[in-house]
Amino acid sequence: MKPKISVLGTGYLGATHAAGLAEMGFEVIGLDVDAEKIAKLARGEVPFHEPGLGALMRTHTASGRLRFTTDYAQAAAFADIHFLAVGTPQSADDGAADLRYVDAAIDALAPHLTRPCLVVGKSTVPVGTAARLVDRLVSLAPAGGTVDLAWNPEFLREGHAVDDTLRPDRIVVGVRSDIAEKLLREVYAGIVERGTPFLVTDLATAELVKTAANSFLATKISFINAMAELCEATGGDVTTLARAIGHDARIGPRFLNAGVGFGGGCLPKDVRAFRARARQLGGEGAAALLSQVDAINLRARDRVLDMARDTLGGELAGRRIAVLGAAFKPDTDDVRDSPALDVAARAARAGAEVVVYDPMAAGAGAVARPELDFATSLESAVTGADLVMLLTEWEEFRLADPRRLATLVRTPRLVDGRNALDHQAWAAAGWSVRAPGRAPLAGQIPFDAPEAA
Ligand code: UDX
Repeated sequence: MKPKISVLGTGYLGATHAAGLAEMGFEVIGLDVDAEKIAKLARGEVPFHEPGLGALMRTHTASGRLRFTTDYAQAAAFADIHFLAVGTPQSADDGAADLRYVDAAIDALAPHLTRPCLVVGKSTVPVGTAARLVDRLVSLAPAGGTVDLAWNPEFLREGHAVDDTLRPDRIVVGVRSDIAEKLLREVYAGIVERGTPFLVTDLATAELVKTAANSFLATKISFINAMAELCEATGGDVTTLARAIGHDARIGPRFLNAGVGFGGGCLPKDVRAFRARARQLGGEGAAALLSQVDAINLRARDRVLDMARDTLGGELAGRRIAVLGAAFKPDTDDVRDSPALDVAARAARAGAEVVVYDPMAAGAGAVARPELDFATSLESAVTGADLVMLLTEWEEFRLADPRRLATLVRTPRLVDGRNALDHQAWAAAGWSVRAPGRAPLAGQIPFDAPEAA
C-alpha cells in the first residue's frame, strides 16, 4: 500500500508540494495553522498566482485525494510521512533564518506521533538544523526513536512551481536510515523512472545543497552586475559580454542578465541566512563572498536610481516617472523584496511623482507600498511621463510599441533596468536609452521638449 502523506505548512511551497503528491497518486492531507487559508484550499482555491496549480488543486480536492486540516492530531493519525514545508523568514537582526515556525511545527506534531513514521524537512534551513530536530522529535514523540527524520530540499521557482515539482532536475534526500531512503524512493518513484537523478546524502549535505544552489545563482547574477559596473566605466556592453562568456558550456548563458538585481522570497534571504550561518561556523571566506553578493545586488538598485536621476538632469523631485513592473520577476504577483518596488518607493521619497504599472502585481504592490500610485494600464502609466523605467521584464513591456509610447510621454526617456528591450528600436523611435552595463543611446528623432536633459 502506498504511504499516506501530510504536508505541514501550505504556503507557496507546501501547497504546491501537496497538490503535486496528489497528482503523483498519493493520498495527502495539507495542514496549516491559518484556518482561513485552509478553508480556501479545501474549496480548491489557491490564495496566490501560480500557473497550473489551481487546476491541480481543484482536481484533487474534488477527487478527495487531497484534503486539508488545521488539526495536528488528525495529520499525525493519517500520515506515514510528514513533509515539513513551513516558512523560514529572515530575522530582523543579523539576517539569519528565523526558525520559529519550524520548531513550532515539530513541537505541535511530535506529541501526536504514536507509531513509526518519517518526518521530511523541505524548508530552507541553516545547516545543522535537521540534526537538532532529530533530538527534539525523538524526545517529544511517544513513538520515540521509531520516528525518523530526513531532509529533502526543494528547488522550485515561482511561476514554474508545478512543473518544477512534477519534473524536477534532481531530487536530493538527506537520510539517517535505509528505511527513510526506501520510503522516499517510493514517494518519488514515478519521477525517478523518467530519468531524474536521485541523490542520497547525509542530513547536513542535503541542507547545504539548497542554500548553496541559491547562493550560486545569486552569485552569478551579482557577478554579471559587477561586470556591468565595469562596462559602464569603460564603454563595454554587458549583454554582449554575457552572451560571449555564456557560450562557454562551463559558464552557461542563464542567470547572467545584468540589471536591477535579484529579489523575491528566496534568493536575498537565503544569501543572508547562509552568510550568518557561515560566520557562526567560522567560514569567513564564504561569509565574505556572500556579503559581496548581497552588496553588489543592493548597489544595482542604487545604480539604476542614479541612472534615472542622471537622465533627468540631476533631480528626481517634481518629475513624473512611470515605473513598469512591481513584481520581483515577471509572471508572478509576488512583490517580496522586489527591486522594482524598492526603486519606485525610493524615487517617490526623493520627490518624484511615481506611477507604477504591473499587469499582475498591482494589488500586492499597493498593499506593500500604499504610498505609491498604481495605474491600471501601461498607457495611463506612461502618459505625461518625463521618464519611463522598466524594472520587471513582463512580456507586455517587451512587446510594447516604442513609437506609440513616445506619443504619450512628455519626454521619451527610458531606463531599461532589466536590459530587456530592443534599445535600437526604442532609440529609432526617438527615445534616449540608458541601461545598466551599456553605453547611453540618444534618441534618433530630434525631440525638442523644453526640459529635455
Ligand atoms: C529561486 C531559485 O531559482 C529556485 O531554485 C529556489 O527554489 C527559490 O529561489 P525564484 O525566487 O522563484 O526562485 O526566482 P528566480 O527565477 O531564481 O529569480 C530570482 C531573482 O533574480 C528575480 O528577481 C530575477 O529577476 C533575478 N534575476 C534572475 C536577475 O536579476 N538576473 C538573472 O539573470 C536571473
